[in-house]
Amino acid sequence: MSNILITGVGSYLPKKVISNNELPVNLDTNDEWIKKRTGIRQRHLVTEGELTSTMAIAAAKKALQNANIDNKDIDLIIVATTTPDKTFPATAVMVQSELNIGIGPAFDIQAVCAGFIYALNVGSSLLKTSNFSKALIIGSESFSKILDWSDRSTSVLFGDGAGAFILEKSNENSEWGILSSNFYSNGNFSDILHTDGGPSLNSQVGKVRMNGKEVFKHAVEKLSSCLIEAMYSANLKIQDIDFLVPHQANLRIIEALSKKLDIPINKIINTVDVHANTSAASIPLAFDNALENRKIKNGDIIALNAIGGGLSWGASIIKYGKPD
Ligand code: COA
Repeated sequence: MSNILITGVGSYLPKKVISNNELPVNLDTNDEWIKKRTGIRQRHLVTEGELTSTMAIAAAKKALQNANIDNKDIDLIIVATTTPDKTFPATAVMVQSELNIGIGPAFDIQAVCAGFIYALNVGSSLLKTSNFSKALIIGSESFSKILDWSDRSTSVLFGDGAGAFILEKSNENSEWGILSSNFYSNGNFSDILHTDGGPSLNSQVGKVRMNGKEVFKHAVEKLSSCLIEAMYSANLKIQDIDFLVPHQANLRIIEALSKKLDIPINKIINTVDVHANTSAASIPLAFDNALENRKIKNGDIIALNAIGGGLSWGASIIKYGKPD
């Protein structure tokens, strides 16, 4: 049975940084409230010319370089996004064209903040069951475009950015790569985090609407349960994890996970303070940040977990990189 290695990581953040103090005055919010309730200090926001596709392309270029593989060797492209450039075609085909990746499947996945875990699951499953050997998996979001900038309970929480993984099939090194993964949805909770528009509903893009308290409760419970399940499937114990890279939504959710799962806080990558919640981009962005800061190293056991609108959630356990 082949296994799927993660051999390259890349990310991109828009140049424009907005601190809590620089948020629109009419929001009636303040730095102290945001930091205390969320841990967020700033977010990157797209400006003219920066799109979900251009950020995805920039992150992908870095990941390809990092993996040291030729663009032409990519067999499959998946972009996880809730904020595509256009309703169609998929953002993934724009990446395919711009990077001169040859003809092959390229499509988007929409599982909101759990999108990257979904893309990882779908991408690795496709590699295992086809003659494809290399996949480009991207999370890219311009979430600022679907925020109601008069709603302080949602607009302060999100940011923009992109991140990418290169997946490579291997028939050796079975103890490396994706060791286990799971993903779930429960549509009964679709109304606690959603947009109030869409092409079929009212021909609008819609804005984010959220019952923050309810989402918070589900987040802690579901992020814990899927992670425990993934650890069990990988036949590993919590103590075996070198780092947890959770979806970056709220520092209080991260702290609650640390407590509930008994994972020391210094083993949890936290970039929510500087990136805010970048939805499907948050895990690869945080992962790349941890690589740049020399926290995550080749061969580390890393847990990933995410939850988002749907509700949709899931987890993966990986041994990062490949043998030297
Ligand atoms: N600035 C100042 N005050 C704010 C505010 C802001 N940005 N947003 C809300 N408030 C106010 C509320 O109006 C409320 O005021 P009131 O007591 O006068 O009615 C008060 O703060 C408390 O609001 P509440 O919603 O109870 O706060 P909370 O402690 O639940 O924190 C969230 C709100 C959104 C930060 C929190 O619920 C959360 O993080 N939930 C999870 C959200 C999430 O991660 N979503 C994405 C998942 S992918």
